[in-house]
Amino acid sequence: MGKMVKETLFGDFYKGRKVFITGHTGFKGSWLSIFLHWLGADVYGYALKPHTIPSLYELAKVDQLVTSTVGDVRDYNFLLRTLKEVQPEVIIHMAAQAIVMESYKNPRETYEINVMGTVNLLDAVRQVESVKAILNITTDKCYENKEWHWGYRENEPMGGYDPYSNSKGCSELVTSSFRNSFFNSKEYKNHGVSLASARAGNVIGGGDWAENRLIPDFIRAIMHGEKLKIRSPYSIRPWQHVLEPLSGYLMLCEKLYTAGTAFAEGWNFGPDDSDAKNVEWITKKICELWGDGASFEIDTNPQPHEANYLKLDCSKAKAELGWAPKWDIETTLKYIVDWNKAWLNKENIRSVSEEQIEEYYK
Ligand SMILES: NC(=O)c1ccc[n+]([C@@H]2O[C@H](COP(=O)([O-])OP(=O)(O)OC[C@H]3O[C@@H](n4cnc5c(N)ncnc54)[C@H](O)[C@@H]3O)[C@@H](O)[C@H]2O)c1
Repeated sequence: MGKMVKETLFGDFYKGRKVFITGHTGFKGSWLSIFLHWLGADVYGYALKPHTIPSLYELAKVDQLVTSTVGDVRDYNFLLRTLKEVQPEVIIHMAAQAIVMESYKNPRETYEINVMGTVNLLDAVRQVESVKAILNITTDKCYENKEWHWGYRENEPMGGYDPYSNSKGCSELVTSSFRNSFFNSKEYKNHGVSLASARAGNVIGGGDWAENRLIPDFIRAIMHGEKLKIRSPYSIRPWQHVLEPLSGYLMLCEKLYTAGTAFAEGWNFGPDDSDAKNVEWITKKICELWGDGASFEIDTNPQPHEANYLKLDCSKAKAELGWAPKWDIETTLKYIVDWNKAWLNKENIRSVSEEQIEEYYK
């Protein structure tokens, strides 16, 4: 069954395609590496070593699927040398300091990685002729949060309250400047590069062990037989399974590659309104799905500012790419519980993850 689905996906575009992912050792990068390998792509990765124990990268043995380089996006010369050696056709830039709380502790490092990392990559691409499509992965948090109820559209101003969100807003501005200055659609014949950015919301799925994220905190509490402590129970987050934005990124990269610069702009990939639930709702639901007496309590300690829910208007991706979320929040949580139970049962994590990709496309 898997084979039949694979052959119709993305019109076989990824078969044998040279794709370079920065941040392939992280949560989303590992899923993307498994996904692209499953599609038959020739996958290259550039990132630091996995920074959580355990990590999806190690559990699924992603190093066997990807030609991996351990490198820092702040190291321009090494990044450039690696790109020149690989000569990729498509680049998906995910390497980032991706945690809001960490950005309060280390704002300089967050900006260095998230902003100068983007500058380094885009500048290096100017010297690598094989590249035709680049997608910069930012976040819904890049928008100036006007604390209103309407969805944010792609042409809304950039902003960001905390250093993480703001650094991603800056990374978007860098992308826009490079597109205007070096990868302009009017000059496409000369440079041959389509550059876009993608803004997705809070991504959840099996294989995330980052600190200060709800689902990883839940799994850690379960493993230690403790009660989960939740912050901001009434905060609403745009939860979506990791495969939702990844499928959107892959649809978009194919268009970037095949349609000149027609798709070279910003794109939102967020969940449907009905899936925007608060932290307490998600926690109750996951405890219920997990069973075995899983429970939680509310952490009443003061917490740093976290911006209120910022809803994405995804009309453009739906109309122009034919992308739409496939799994509602309950289905998403069920797959996360299944994945984590399989991990605790010591099942083959790469197969479990590939099976979930197949399920996603059923
Ligand atoms: N997880 C989410 O909910 C979410 C939501 C919106 C956007 N994003 C964005 O998606 C991307 C991936 O997020 P994630 O959740 O997988 O994060 P992650 O922390 O799991 O992974 C980050 C990756 O970036 C790499 N990296 C970090 N600093 C680096 C450096 N200096 N040089 C080279 N590589 C470096 C890490 O090695 C790792 O591979 C990030 O750009 C993040 O901002 C994530």
